[in-house]
Amino acid sequence: MSNKVFFGSREVEENLKQNLVNDVFSSVVHKYDLMNDIMSFGMHRLWKDALITHVPSLNDKKFLDVASGTCDIVKKLYKRAKQENAKAEIIATDINPDMLSLGRDKMIDAGIIGDTISYVCANAEKLPFNDNEFDFYSIAFGIRNVTNINQALKEAFRVLRPGGKFLCLELSPKQDSKFFAGVYRQYSKLIPCVGDVLVGDKDSYQYLIESIQKFPSQNAFAAMIEEAGFEMVKYENLVGGVAAIHIGYKI
Ligand SMILES: C[S@@+](CC[C@H](N)C(=O)[O-])C[C@H]1O[C@@H](n2cnc3c(N)ncnc32)[C@H](O)[C@@H]1O
Repeated sequence: MSNKVFFGSREVEENLKQNLVNDVFSSVVHKYDLMNDIMSFGMHRLWKDALITHVPSLNDKKFLDVASGTCDIVKKLYKRAKQENAKAEIIATDINPDMLSLGRDKMIDAGIIGDTISYVCANAEKLPFNDNEFDFYSIAFGIRNVTNINQALKEAFRVLRPGGKFLCLELSPKQDSKFFAGVYRQYSKLIPCVGDVLVGDKDSYQYLIESIQKFPSQNAFAAMIEEAGFEMVKYENLVGGVAAIHIGYKI
């Protein structure tokens, strides 16, 4: 018998959620980047830069980016590695082939072609990689879409080598100040209407907003990361807790 899980604020059978999530991203794929810029006033770019600052060096490192979508993180990593003249192997993964192929096309359009980057269609809950394979694991705005977050965290722990670093960027349901939380809540109500006008898809953006509200608070998510086996777990709030970067180490 299948358990019920939240798909946004709606409860659905656990085995149905991933298909519903995949439909959301297949529906918004061609306007995904534009909507990200509009919804976050371009701030998602700065938050992704902030995530990368937690990567000390890429030289001779193997990096796994999960739920890569349109590959913003992978592109930033590639550029960082180039600046550092570092030899890094970067793997982009996503469960949705539409998102991943747009990401790969974007990279090719930017002239980023080479054997240091590969693209693998994969579920964060069941990664097709060996134990102890990666120095870094990142997931940006991806984990709240995963059906079984604890399982995805366990997989992150498994594929990281001892000493490896887990990095997660995610929108958070809990902001620092009550006033700011109120403003943000009102603003969030507009997002599905913007999605309707720009993408012709109100429901997908309704889901995206609800999925933030259903995501655990920063402290609760940090506890889940520890539960998966990570140590020295901490988080850093961005813009008063609209988003947060979560960090943990496999010791
Ligand atoms: C909001 S997008 C984030 C994309 C990109 N990381 C970014 O920061 O712009 C979420 C991505 O998570 C992917 N995703 C959802 N469930 C997943 C799963 N179980 N395993 C891997 N990727 C998943 C979606 O296909 C989508 O591309």
